[in-house]
Amino acid sequence: MTTESDVAYAHQPGGLLKGKVAVITGVGAAGTIGAVTAAIFVQEGARVLAADISGAQKETALSLGPAAAPFQVDITREEDVEAMFAHAVETFGRVDILVNVAGNPGGRRGPEVTVEEFESLTSVHLLGTLLTNKHAVRVMAPAGGGAIVNFSSAASFNIDERISMAYSAAKSGVNSLTKSVAVLHGAQGIRANAVAPGFTLSKKNHRVPPEAMKELGGKAALGRPGQPEEQAHVAAFLTSDRASFVTGVVVPVDGGWSARLA
Ligand SMILES: NC(=O)c1ccc[n+]([C@@H]2O[C@H](COP(=O)([O-])OP(=O)(O)OC[C@H]3O[C@@H](n4cnc5c(N)ncnc54)[C@H](O)[C@@H]3O)[C@@H](O)[C@H]2O)c1
Repeated sequence: MTTESDVAYAHQPGGLLKGKVAVITGVGAAGTIGAVTAAIFVQEGARVLAADISGAQKETALSLGPAAAPFQVDITREEDVEAMFAHAVETFGRVDILVNVAGNPGGRRGPEVTVEEFESLTSVHLLGTLLTNKHAVRVMAPAGGGAIVNFSSAASFNIDERISMAYSAAKSGVNSLTKSVAVLHGAQGIRANAVAPGFTLSKKNHRVPPEAMKELGGKAALGRPGQPEEQAHVAAFLTSDRASFVTGVVVPVDGGWSARLA
């Protein structure tokens, strides 16, 4: 539970996450939003369990030094997720923060979407969010609380023809799950919020063709794509004690894309 002295501490400059232990999923190769988030959390004083399905978390954790340790996880498998939190407690003593960044993109749109794609997207985004949040609560509640950030998308609010309807639906579900966790576990000192990125230049989006890059970047009121750091800093704020009265919200980090009528 956050105390008055914790709040006073939270207003000290620097070390936003000093002393905190964070489990971060989706920490793949350098340049993913998850990898950049892990680096910023370490800079802010946190110790981080860097988790991913790909194997790339090993190199990423190594590059962050002794404050980070890797863990291989498939967030759609409950035994993996349970083992991930057990490993975090074993390695760092406790878990204060979960940032669930892991996700997979949708390819086909409209009626072309396949059952396999729908199942894969809902499995990673919805079931993965449910399982990581469930097991985060299990370790956080007996310890007096914690903070969760789930990665949603600007596509969870409204529809863009380029984005898979299954992806949008799954990310809308992430918003709903986040609010459920906030409401059901607020009394246990657990805060849960979501970050909803707009088009962001994570590693994979550097491959987007120049025309599409210009068009997608131009959707933002700011007229440019976001950087992974701009997502990570909002996640750091939301999981820090500075956001101690913020829970159950979905924060668009989209340069104003979702503020437009069209
Ligand atoms: N980049 C954007 O423009 C953008 C926009 C909106 C939302 N998002 C969301 O932000 C998050 C990160 O985006 P990104 O661009 O860094 O994506 P990315 O594809 O580069 O990275 C996602 C990471 O998640 C991992 N992952 C996938 N399935 C997993 C599973 N079952 N278990 C564990 N790890 C798994 C992948 O291996 C990868 O390292 C995602 O949830 C994505 O949907 C991104």
